[in-house]
Amino acid sequence: MTISTPIDVPGAFAASYGAQGAEARTWLAGLPRLGGELLDRWELRPDGPARWGMASLVLPVRRPGGEPAALKLQRLREETAGAADGLRAWRSNGIVRLLEHDESSAAQLLERLDASRPLSSVTDEETALGVLAGLLARLTAVPAPAGLRGLSDIAAAMVEETPAAVPALRDPDERKLLETCAAAVAELTGEAGNRLLHWDLHAGNVLAGEREPWLAIDPEPLAGDPGFDLLPAIDDRWEAVTSSGDIGRAVLHRFDRLTEAVGADRRRAVGWTLGRVLQNGLWDVEDGKDRLEPAQVAIARTLLDHRR
Ligand SMILES: Nc1ncnc2c1ncn2[C@@H]1O[C@H](COP(=O)(O)OP(=O)(O)O)[C@@H](O)[C@H]1O
Ligand SMILES: [Mg+2]
Repeated sequence: MTISTPIDVPGAFAASYGAQGAEARTWLAGLPRLGGELLDRWELRPDGPARWGMASLVLPVRRPGGEPAALKLQRLREETAGAADGLRAWRSNGIVRLLEHDESSAAQLLERLDASRPLSSVTDEETALGVLAGLLARLTAVPAPAGLRGLSDIAAAMVEETPAAVPALRDPDERKLLETCAAAVAELTGEAGNRLLHWDLHAGNVLAGEREPWLAIDPEPLAGDPGFDLLPAIDDRWEAVTSSGDIGRAVLHRFDRLTEAVGADRRRAVGWTLGRVLQNGLWDVEDGKDRLEPAQVAIARTLLDHRR
């Protein structure tokens, strides 16, 4: 048996990822060897400096025939477990192509896109919003494959967790807001839907491509209502919202544009967007915070004021 040459893990990635806890550090410890083994197994050669996000390390590589690709290494978690099934179900339409997948480690070999040109580098707000709306419409039109985690379970768990989380918030208005979001979700648990959702489609998760101008990356798929997929495209590029001078109007403009694009029922889109605000709030409390993010509060209040 040949022993693979371990990959180099950039120190900055190790520092940011390692700060996420003990499990993250255990995964990091095995990463040089895992990367080396996958390079050997898929006959890849490194081709440039690594990139990374909050949750993964991505190495530009070339396949034996010279084709450029990207090796994405990420920890196997509930959120990443369905990524390969989702990518296969989308059949590369509007989203990065999956070339290889290692089920035991959740590693993916992906078609190479232009990492130097994320949609977040496009400064024109309407252009970026239009691209996000178009991709969301196409991605959420696909039925979810069987066996994927579903929004109905996630929604039920959030509603159940809310009463214990609320007292951690300092501001009584924010407590009330989180309760209102949970009540909206409780009303919708019977209408959770079964489309294939990306779950994290913001401008940083869209890269320029060649076979299509823009392609989505980084899905954490789940089966659900398209309305649950809008928030990352609403709270993203938040400076554009605050600098517009009218936060409510800018939020509604994004919400209406996205809701229309995905053909979502407006009532459900409001309710499920409040559900995403709830999810973010519950995570913040879990992380020890006692305030909600101002962007989340502004979005929830705007939608509640315009509920019809
Ligand atoms: N297919 C790809 N081609 C080129 N670069 C990629 C590709 N996929 C990801 N990247 C680069 O790696 C970074 C992190 O990847 P991403 O899938 O978004 O993971 P994370 O969950 O860490 O955000 C991206 O922001 C991008 O710079
Ligand atoms: Mg990402």
